[in-house]
Amino acid sequence: MSYAIVGFGKVGQAPAHAFARKNIDVIIASRRPPEALAPQARAIGPTVIAKSLRDALDADTIILAVPFSEHREVAKALPTWKGKTVIDATNAFGVLLEELNGLLSSAFVAKSFPGAKFVKGFNHLAAATLAADPIVEGGHRVVFLSRDDEDAIAPVADLAKQLGFAPVKLGKLNEGCALVHARGRTWGQVIFQDLFKKEQ
Ligand SMILES: NC(=O)c1ccc[n+]([C@@H]2O[C@H](COP(=O)([O-])OP(=O)(O)OC[C@H]3O[C@@H](n4cnc5c(N)ncnc54)[C@H](OP(=O)(O)O)[C@@H]3O)[C@@H](O)[C@H]2O)c1
Repeated sequence: MSYAIVGFGKVGQAPAHAFARKNIDVIIASRRPPEALAPQARAIGPTVIAKSLRDALDADTIILAVPFSEHREVAKALPTWKGKTVIDATNAFGVLLEELNGLLSSAFVAKSFPGAKFVKGFNHLAAATLAADPIVEGGHRVVFLSRDDEDAIAPVADLAKQLGFAPVKLGKLNEGCALVHARGRTWGQVIFQDLFKKEQ
């Protein structure tokens, strides 16, 4: 299995630390050329390799860590996403709900990656927490994973475990995953408010 992280800002660098900690190779890429990213990649660890975006997309599993508004640009870089696993770590903070056509942001992003095995995950932790050793006081920090395609989840859960996290499966994107979504300027609790209003 080969891995890439697309987007090498705060959130892209965070899982790179986890890969480096476990000596697992990971390619990192952004819009900038690999030479510009290489010093930062090397500083994280020798298994973190900067490549061009196009080369990074040769990986089997791609962690999407770009601003929400950029996901379509990444999607356009491959003619087909068939055979790829995409882990969506983006959040749609500040994106108007009307812009999402009534969908949760993960379902909205998934539409740009047809054919991919699409998993929402690693998005609920602040970057600094995601970068830190996930083994805390003998326990494993949790990451939440959701998917519509049942087949998509197992390799991502395995990766999370290899990186030292405890994966928690939340079901389909529009089920448990709704609790770990940004919506407008709020986080999952807005869903509770919506449900509460409906019950009244
Ligand atoms: N910050 C957090 O604590 C946190 C936590 C959970 C989730 N998130 C989510 O994670 C995503 C990234 O957040 P961030 O804080 O890491 O942002 P950031 O620090 O601004 O980094 C964004 C990265 O994406 C790259 N990028 C932008 N457009 C791109 C494109 N079209 N193709 C390839 N690379 C592109 C940028 O690099 P270049 O400019 O070099 O291209 C940069 O490396 C967001 O959706 C955010 O909501 C953030």
